[in-house]
Amino acid sequence: MQIIPSHHPLHRRSFLHATGKFAAAAVLPTKLLAQKTTGQEKHEQNYDVSTGLMREHGILKRVLLIYAEVIRRIDAKEDFPPQTVIDSAEIVRKYIEDYHQKLEEEHIFPLFRKYYRRQDVLRLYAQKLLDLVDVLCEQHQAGRRLTDRIVSTLQSLKTADDRQNLAQDLRAFIRMYTPHEAREDTVLFPALPVIISRQEYHALGEKFKEIEHKTFGGEGFDIYLDYVTAFEKRLGIYDLKQFTPK
Ligand SMILES: [Fe+2]
Ligand SMILES: [Fe+2]
Repeated sequence: MQIIPSHHPLHRRSFLHATGKFAAAAVLPTKLLAQKTTGQEKHEQNYDVSTGLMREHGILKRVLLIYAEVIRRIDAKEDFPPQTVIDSAEIVRKYIEDYHQKLEEEHIFPLFRKYYRRQDVLRLYAQKLLDLVDVLCEQHQAGRRLTDRIVSTLQSLKTADDRQNLAQDLRAFIRMYTPHEAREDTVLFPALPVIISRQEYHALGEKFKEIEHKTFGGEGFDIYLDYVTAFEKRLGIYDLKQFTPK
């Protein structure tokens, strides 16, 4: 993982993931470890596709909050740590674009295309879902282009114009991904149990669990939750209470 400097305390957590339960037992309090182990076993028994994808959206949502804070600071002519934004864009790259969206593109979207091809009775319903998938797919590509540009702007952030360009791209990113993930959560994922059988849905969950473990050597969600939490703390937006209206 390159986004965190090697001396960063988060590396200790990654080490726990890399070395497994036995190494973790040496440093985690017994009660906490018991809770964590029970949770993991439960997860391994019941991996639900929609729940998994939606909590990945939760990580994306928290990156959007980081981006919103950077826009706020640019508008207010305040400083922000560019490295934190580079690291956040790296979360988008590694966890959202190269993992989450790839799952959607390779395993979810094709199910809707297949459903459309064999659907006679509910043709209109299938067509609506197919149109949605086409837009979602286009937006994944547009998102990747935006991330390229955001990272490249961040690497040579010198003038006020650079800061404005960055703010503009971050705004466009938030504007697209807010409805994108909301539409997937409320329309696409709930349609999965309609278009495939219970057995296929369960098998897909098993496949996703296997891919996650192969990709991250454990639960990618835990790893990226730690990253996003650390970056929120760096920007002073971690404390939830600050968002409660007075
Ligand atoms: Fe998507
Ligand atoms: Fe998604």
